[in-house]
Amino acid sequence: MGTDQQPSSRSALGAWLALGTIVLFAAAAILVFVATRQAQAPTGRLVAPSDQAQQPAPGGGVRDFTLTAAPVALELEPGLITAAWAYNNIVPGPELRVQTGDLVRVRFQNRLPVPTTIHWHGVPLPNGEDGVAGVTQDAIPAGGSTTYAFVAPQPGTYWYHSHQNSAKQVGQGLYGALVVEPGAVPVSILDLTLIYGEWPLGRPQPTPPPGDGADMMRYGVYSVNGRTGSAIQPIRLQPGQTVRLRFVNAGNLTHYVHPHVAYRIIGIDGSQLTGGPETEHAIPLGAAERVEIEFTAPDAPVWITAHDPSPPAREISVVALPYGMAVPPKAPEGSISGQVLDLDGYAARAAYDPWPDGTKPTRSFTLRLGESMTMPSSHNLVPGMPGMPGMNTRYTINGAVFPQTPGLTVKQGDRVEITFVNTGQLEHAMHLHGHAFRLLARDGRSLPGTLVMDTVLAEPGTSYTIGFVADNPGWWAIHCHELHHAAGGMMALLHYQGSQRLAELGGPAGNNPE
Ligand code: C2O
Ligand code: CU
Repeated sequence: MGTDQQPSSRSALGAWLALGTIVLFAAAAILVFVATRQAQAPTGRLVAPSDQAQQPAPGGGVRDFTLTAAPVALELEPGLITAAWAYNNIVPGPELRVQTGDLVRVRFQNRLPVPTTIHWHGVPLPNGEDGVAGVTQDAIPAGGSTTYAFVAPQPGTYWYHSHQNSAKQVGQGLYGALVVEPGAVPVSILDLTLIYGEWPLGRPQPTPPPGDGADMMRYGVYSVNGRTGSAIQPIRLQPGQTVRLRFVNAGNLTHYVHPHVAYRIIGIDGSQLTGGPETEHAIPLGAAERVEIEFTAPDAPVWITAHDPSPPAREISVVALPYGMAVPPKAPEGSISGQVLDLDGYAARAAYDPWPDGTKPTRSFTLRLGESMTMPSSHNLVPGMPGMPGMNTRYTINGAVFPQTPGLTVKQGDRVEITFVNTGQLEHAMHLHGHAFRLLARDGRSLPGTLVMDTVLAEPGTSYTIGFVADNPGWWAIHCHELHHAAGGMMALLHYQGSQRLAELGGPAGNNPE
């Protein structure tokens, strides 16, 4: 008996010892985990948005908003559900409509599992409110909150989006419109925003590249105002009514937005235009660009189609038609070739011109944009798209990738000219933070209009010269708004002599602007 028991009690003891060891190891592992977590958690004070406006401009009001970023299941179309990140549980986030001169205060809460920020695209606000992680503030940690406050700029169509890991975060749905009205808009005017986005869904995933340039190959679904296909609602209007549509491209690809009606462009980015000719052409809307059009509602349906080189585009057509009229079954098909507007050549005048004719630059820069593959191999090339870069592509400015790209130093009051020379094979939508610029020339030739914008789409083989006044001290990002390109290196910083950089890359907050 005894002999029978011994081994069993020995094995019981052994089992207890083994269990104890496991428990000890587990406890040790948890301690190590907690310790590392604490070491990684932000320590000390994070750099919050700074230099906040306290007062509206004379005549302006105070507008308070709350935005909360959180994961959400987004239904793009009945049955087509994707995991997204959203402001206030909707994609796009709520449209913030304010008037010029208002004090805009946005209380922001981060309920994402990762750090984030909000950037106010196109708004020339104080540097500390620009929302660029690692440049103007530390990323707001998961569970954290902050406030942004600024005075609403000149009337126009702006937008807001994350500027931390932005290729991922904006792609997941963290964007919304900011509309600045000149004053109260007459109720007789229909004024709507259409925001275009892209989703890596519904298309066989190419093997293997899961890298920076891969998403654009995977976009199988486009959306307008967060919906696609049958979920897109018609716009109802009154014949004879003045209709303003604000197109915002929150995606990475150029969308050719085609209003099938005679219209005029009355705004580009954050500027208002007058005197432009009537047209019916398709508008090339590059990444991050905004175009505002106006037309008189006819007594018939008006289709706003969006064309792209790939098939999903048809699914984001929107129809605007009189109340009570039956929705026509199908958008007009057909090609837009020969019907694309020369947007840079649009002969209109901006309400505010930072570069009156005859202005001489006091500082000039040339930024050469390109791509290079560091590890060319067959799987980096997509069949049928020769030379299309895959996962190891670097997107370069003067041959370098951020943060090794050249810094642009200016001083207050400079008249600054920048020429973007696209030496690559892809389009690059170059965006300057903190300033509105005038588009001065394409390929060295001046343009017929006075176009003032914050993002310029440079096709391969073209060059664009922009001009602006250095009137907003700080450290400002310049980058391609194909956000995978920015993440792949196509970003630089412009800074004012003597101004202090507010935040650094990396660090305890894990700052990573693109
Ligand atoms: Cu739309 Cu760097 O921003
Ligand atoms: Cu680019």
